[in-house]
Order: sequence, then C-alpha cells, then structure tokens
Amino acid sequence: MAHRWRNTLTTADVTPEAYWLNRRQLIAGGASGLGLAALGGAAHANTGLEPNTWEEITSYNNYYEFGTGKEDPARNAGGLRTEPWTITVDGLVDNPGEYSLDDLIGGLTVEERIYRFRCVEAWSMVVPWNGIELADILNRVGVQAGARYVAFETAVQPDVMIGVRRRVLPFPYVEGLRIDEAMHPLTLMATGIYGRPIPNQNGAPIRLVVPWKYGFKSIKSIVRISLVTDEPPASWNRAAPQEYGFYSNVNPNVDHPRWSQATERRVGGGLFAKRIPTLMFNGYEDEVAGLYEGMDLSRYY
Ligand code: MTE
Repeated sequence: MAHRWRNTLTTADVTPEAYWLNRRQLIAGGASGLGLAALGGAAHANTGLEPNTWEEITSYNNYYEFGTGKEDPARNAGGLRTEPWTITVDGLVDNPGEYSLDDLIGGLTVEERIYRFRCVEAWSMVVPWNGIELADILNRVGVQAGARYVAFETAVQPDVMIGVRRRVLPFPYVEGLRIDEAMHPLTLMATGIYGRPIPNQNGAPIRLVVPWKYGFKSIKSIVRISLVTDEPPASWNRAAPQEYGFYSNVNPNVDHPRWSQATERRVGGGLFAKRIPTLMFNGYEDEVAGLYEGMDLSRYY
C-alpha cells in the first residue's frame, strides 16, 4: 500500500539526518530499504532526491498569510493557533460535519514520502513528508456520486496573520483538485516533516501535497474540504488566470508568461549552483500522465 510508487522513496533510503535512521525503516518500491546498507545505492539511483535539510525546508517558505518574503512565514507564523483544529467537511459526502483533526485522520496510515517539490517561481526542494493519503480521508467521509472536484480552504486568523491584515491576496486562500487527482495515491495530506510535526510556516497542522503540480496547489493549514460538482476557485488562478492555470501541472515545455519553466534552482545548492532540468510532471509522469490523456499539455493548464 505505502510504496507502490517507485519514485516514492522513504526517508530510510536517502535521508542525511542521522537521527532519522534510528526510526522505523520502511521498504521503498519493493527494493530492500534496510537502512544503511541500502543508503548508498538508493541515493545514487535516485540522484536529485536527496532531501533538503530541516533548516532549509522550514526557513524558506511561501505562506502569504504571514507575509510575502521567503523568511516571513518562519518569523511570523509562531502565533498560528493549531489546537484545537476543526475541519469542516461538506458538500457531496455521506458523513458531512465539523471534524476534529483526530476524528478526521485518527487511525489512518501515516506514510513517509520523499517528494520533489517544485514552486512555480522555479525553485525546488526535496521534502521528506509524513502524511495520510487524501484518498483515505475521502473514503472515510464517503464521497458521493456526482462529486467531481474537491475544494480546500485555509484558516484565517487575522490577529496573527499579518498578510491577511494587509490583504496581499484575497483570503481565505482556496485551492481545488479534480476528484481523480484527489484520489490519486501520490496525493498526500501532510502532518509532518522528518518525523516531526509540521511547523506552522509549512502549513500546520495539516496541508495538501500534490507533488506533480506547482507548489501553490499544495494549500496549507486546511480548515474546510468540500466535495463539489463544479471546478472550484483557486487563489492564484483567480488572482492572475493568464499566469496560473487550475491544473498547473509541472511542465518544463510550457513557460510561465514571465519566465522559463525549463530549469529550476534547488534551494540549498548555493548561489552559484547549476540549475537543474525540470522534469515533466515533476518526475511523476509514469504515475500521473494517464490522468490527463486527451488534454493538450502544450496549452497552459
Ligand atoms: N497555502 C496558503 N494558505 N497560503 C500560501 O501563500 N503558498 C503556496 C503553497 N500553499 C501558500 C499555500 C506556494 S506558492 C508554495 S510554493 C507552497 O505553499 C510552499 O510550501 P512550503 O513553504 O512548505 O515550501
């Protein structure tokens, strides 16, 4: 269940963080993931999948509710109130309601997933997430026939969110996925990084991670999940539709109107590090290309 996807390594394979190796070792892609013995081989075979450090992942962020600078979220998100946390589930579901986080995800399998993360701004990281497949959550609440999209909404806490007070975007931040994208096994609801609870600046206590799409689809600090019939609004798509499509699949062949998407800068590589090629669907083409059969990917989606 956890490791059907060959691109889906676990931290046991490639993590540079020594302490992590003491944790439960999982097996990736059917290959033996037996800790140190497999470390060299796995890391080599998956060049480009060495995780960024905790420090890099948690100090260089986009979370406009807490400011537009990359260092603003780490500086400003400390006041986000994450306990208690309630998630409203509504729309075309069998069990709508206001769920505590524990009621929504308690007992579901927490996965360890090392994913490439590619921002539309052409920087990237590799993040060892912990989280639950969104499909498991949707199956728990019971998706009804007729639900074609999933809509998500971020918390709004104006007293602690300086970006909300300054109205740098219309808030709440909203995003959406088509139902087959939402049910795809790669689509994760992350609650941790490196085995620790996800920090506020990264979207505590629960955020979406869709590794084959530009990072803005991966909405943070989710308080509402709605099953709907029509394509839901998405914040960046609404703010600048000619620049940010609803689908926003990573595609090195389709440039952003103002910059190239052919290459990316891996955060932490240093100022003069060589840019690396961006991969179709961010390297998850084998797993997800089938979702888009018949769609013209040379158009901006
Ligand atoms: N979610 C909310 N609520 N607000 C945001 O500003 N920024 C998005 C996405 N989710 C954003 C958000 C963008 S542009 C990116 S690239 C990722 O979060 C950044 O995630 P990270 O800070 O964990 O790397």
